[in-house]
Amino acid sequence: MQTNSLILEVRPINHPVISKDKDSLPKKDQSVLQICGRASLEGEVKISGAKNSALAIMAGTLLCPQDCRLHNVPSLVDIKKMSQILCALGVKVERNGDILDINASDLGHSTAPYELVSQLRASFFAIGPLLARLGAVRIPLPGGCAIGARPVDLHVRGLQSLGAQVHIEHGMVNAYISGSGSKKLKGAKIYLDYPSVGATETLMMAATLAEGETTIENAAQEPEVADLANFCKAMGAKIDGAGTNKIIINGVPSLHSVEYSVIPDRIEAGTLLIAGAITQSEITLSPVRPDHLSAVIAKLRETGSQVIMEGTNRLRIVPDKIQAIDIETLPFPGFPTDMQAPFMALLTLSEGDSVITETVFENRLGHVPELSRMGADIRVKGNNAIVRGVPMLSGAPVMATDLRASAALVLAGLAAQGKTTIKGLHHLDRGYDNLEEKLRNLGANIKRVKEENESEPEETATAQSKIAIGQQ
Ligand code: UD1
Repeated sequence: MQTNSLILEVRPINHPVISKDKDSLPKKDQSVLQICGRASLEGEVKISGAKNSALAIMAGTLLCPQDCRLHNVPSLVDIKKMSQILCALGVKVERNGDILDINASDLGHSTAPYELVSQLRASFFAIGPLLARLGAVRIPLPGGCAIGARPVDLHVRGLQSLGAQVHIEHGMVNAYISGSGSKKLKGAKIYLDYPSVGATETLMMAATLAEGETTIENAAQEPEVADLANFCKAMGAKIDGAGTNKIIINGVPSLHSVEYSVIPDRIEAGTLLIAGAITQSEITLSPVRPDHLSAVIAKLRETGSQVIMEGTNRLRIVPDKIQAIDIETLPFPGFPTDMQAPFMALLTLSEGDSVITETVFENRLGHVPELSRMGADIRVKGNNAIVRGVPMLSGAPVMATDLRASAALVLAGLAAQGKTTIKGLHHLDRGYDNLEEKLRNLGANIKRVKEENESEPEETATAQSKIAIGQQ
């Protein structure tokens, strides 16, 4: 492999995230969630801004040399990490409630810290805007994670199509635009072998400042891609077709200041719809975009629940006995992989056998052994989980293995008889904005306690031992 001789200055972290809501990054949380299951829920719950949109849009602010104000940004550890990464690149970030003010006018040639990029894959998406804006970028490879190897080959090949030199050495991706003329990427026709969300976002952002027209075929159609495109368009980018499988971007010389509101989180909404279904409770959610939830709503209806649209941005779930159904995860508009674990929790209590097939990530069934600890009957064969419905789950100590697995365990805990204790809450806090408070407000018996303070209420212990005897 050719060696990149370009030397980039490494700058220290010089712009801390200024926060008006004491929003500093938490230390590794040793707390556990305790849920006493089988409480009925009722009422209305507010859905926060979409994590995956907000993260991509934060990367997108690197394209703009002026002020960007983002509304409806969820309060999540992943957002804090992304803020820290932007700060390490010389960007000013200020948080006030759900508003993020970002100014990347002082963007310098710097390297995002490996420790942060390795914890937050979405930060790698910054490679596109940084390259477009600066003509050169050095960014650590994000590495794999609990749910799969997660390579970045599609990002790299797409940037090469746009005229970038890209070399990977010692775990670093060095990308630069060579030549003595203008340090601009060149519009190109790109075909993605797989409709990767991150690769589509990286390349769409990179192309906004390229010379000429770029076409991305077999693009990801996820609502978060369309949201990022709308954000870029609000800054003056010329993008057509985002949200379909063919996106056309005509490069512009520069982008300008913007104020933009992030879409509601469809995965949080889906998780809370399941909270209603699994506890047999009628609850209402808003704001939501029902068109972003079509597959999830269709599958919930197939299980027997009614999902009623009230106006344009409200959904009510009216549960019924849970019927077994089959699910296969697919790129949007197919059933989202991020809803696979939460839906599995629901189907553990169905009448009959369900087959869940994970096609997007190769290792995304880590929640199965934990659900089994709670009495679920699940067998895994390759990427298929065969879920045989049981009449009751029993509370147990369990460990969250990844973000969506942690949501599945919360849902199972809400329905289980007795007490469930969930460890590994740093996963949950990455992607759910105050989930336990939202559930508590609906009537759930859920609290976060320090691990050492954990003590088992007597009546719960009795309930659990009764179930254990009943299962023998
Ligand atoms: C995004 C979401 C994540 C969601 C996923 C799929 C963010 C921050 N995260 O992740 O919540 O689960 O979409 O909807 O938006 N792949 C390659 N080469 C690449 C890129 C991807 O082989 O260069 C593979 C991945 O390993 C995976 C599949 O493509 O098997 C889908 O990944 P991708 O759509 O890129 O997911 P992310 O953008 O990482």
